[in-house]
Amino acid sequence: MQSIWSKTAELPPHPPLPGDLKVEAAVIGGGMAGILTACLLQEKGVESVVLEAERIGGGQTKNTTAKITSQHGLIYAALTEKFGQELAGQYARVSQRAVEEYCRLTEDWGAACQLERCPAYLYSTQSEDALLEEAHAAQSLGLPAEFTLETELPVPIKGAVRFDGQARFHPLRFLEEAAKRVTVYEQTRALEVQGDEIRTDRGTVRAKHIVFATHFPFVNFPGYYFLRMHQERSYVLALENALLPQGLYYGVDPDGLSLRQAEHCLLLGGGGHRTGENSAGGRYRLLRREAERYWPQSREVAHWSAQDCMPMDSVPYIGRYASDREGWYVATGFRKWGMTGSMAAAMLLSDQIAGREHPDRAVFSPQRFDLPASAKSLMADGKQTVKGLSRQLFAKGRALAEELPAGHGGVVELDGEKVGAYRTESGELFLVSTRCPHLGCQLEWNPDEKSWDCPCHGSRFDYRGELLSGPAQIPLERN
Ligand SMILES: Cc1cc2nc3c(=O)[nH]c(=O)nc-3n(C[C@H](O)[C@H](O)[C@H](O)COP(=O)(O)OP(=O)(O)OC[C@H]3O[C@@H](n4cnc5c(N)ncnc54)[C@H](O)[C@@H]3O)c2cc1C
Ligand code: FES
Repeated sequence: MQSIWSKTAELPPHPPLPGDLKVEAAVIGGGMAGILTACLLQEKGVESVVLEAERIGGGQTKNTTAKITSQHGLIYAALTEKFGQELAGQYARVSQRAVEEYCRLTEDWGAACQLERCPAYLYSTQSEDALLEEAHAAQSLGLPAEFTLETELPVPIKGAVRFDGQARFHPLRFLEEAAKRVTVYEQTRALEVQGDEIRTDRGTVRAKHIVFATHFPFVNFPGYYFLRMHQERSYVLALENALLPQGLYYGVDPDGLSLRQAEHCLLLGGGGHRTGENSAGGRYRLLRREAERYWPQSREVAHWSAQDCMPMDSVPYIGRYASDREGWYVATGFRKWGMTGSMAAAMLLSDQIAGREHPDRAVFSPQRFDLPASAKSLMADGKQTVKGLSRQLFAKGRALAEELPAGHGGVVELDGEKVGAYRTESGELFLVSTRCPHLGCQLEWNPDEKSWDCPCHGSRFDYRGELLSGPAQIPLERN
């Protein structure tokens, strides 16, 4: 189903790349990160174009909840401990600056994107300890944070951290306004990048500077981003006739909920899991149960889901793609905070490309790679990949294709071969290969979205095998 943003904004189409081209900077990917980076590059006098495989905003950006905050879950106490006050301070300053940049651009452009300033809250119904620590750490880094017991929530809480001066907006209306200021080529997929040359399905682009803003980078070597990140999916309901809080809310307990208002709707988010690990389904059911419990009079008007790239040490990768690739840059690993993450990437990368110093760049550098800070996640991600690969090689199908009931999907056996199968409500059977074309892991069926999802790095495909999102760049083989 479409998000409320897609339902209420129709972005005008942009032409495909008309043929070969030479430019100063090319940005691959037209989500929030790519469009903003191109926009700020233009502002700083660097001529740039955006190459988008499908439509701008059509990736994760159309399915966000669009809170613009420097409050990123429980992060500042952990960052201070892991990286020290100076690097944690860089993260805090860039994130709060990103909030201010959204406000500046909205005002400069006169963008009708419903941007409103509001406070943001982290809350817990179980314990105040981590929140007290977080409030203290955020304050010491200069952020507008305060511990409080006062919220608009319908549940008793143990505590909350309020950040003042945050914001919410309509992400696609903002993106539409931003895209008017840059040259965009849609329906133009980058297939390969060698040196300063991007080969697309429409022609070749040569650029001195190339920015990978494709959510998950699709070039595996160098960079090795597939070893440094996994993806997590989460789900959203839009409810009419429910609480319309002024503030933005994010629960820090396991199964905590995210809340914000969007015009006359409450957006209720949660149900997160590692992509490719939802074969039992029921994520929307879980959110509907919460809606029924707290707002029994409410009515669901939309539901949707999206996914996030989770870096190993909780800090996005923004900067040089790899130390041996002059002129290549990356913007990824925004965790659940890719609105400010995208703006942070745009600010830092546009300065770097325009040859300007930025005092707060170091913490985001993809070359920081601090093994002790990241070793635990590296091992966990490595184990997951081995599990996904060995499942593809050794595990058998779980049922026979002819036994699959209507409206169901799964890994089945057909003539002794393992295949992915989905039977539509009308009985038509769709068969696809369960081998992920990225690096070969076994795909898992996601009954909530009727999609094939990869547990290794999060690529997704619809039941026909069409590519929904990368790092894979090609569809599944059909059986
Ligand atoms: C449920 C949910 C709620 C969220 N809510 C918030 C929130 O409230 N606040 C917040 O800060 N963050 C939030 N996030 C995170 C945020 O929405 C994302 O991090 C952000 O939208 C990512 O933007 P992006 O530009 O990196 O990626 P995308 O929007 O996915 O853009 C990448 C683009 O690259 C294109 N592409 C891919 N491969 C190629 C190729 N080879 N050639 C050309 N183009 C290519 C894709 O088609 C796509 O359009 C949320 C995430 C989820 C899952
Ligand atoms: S996404 Fe990497 S193997 Fe599937």
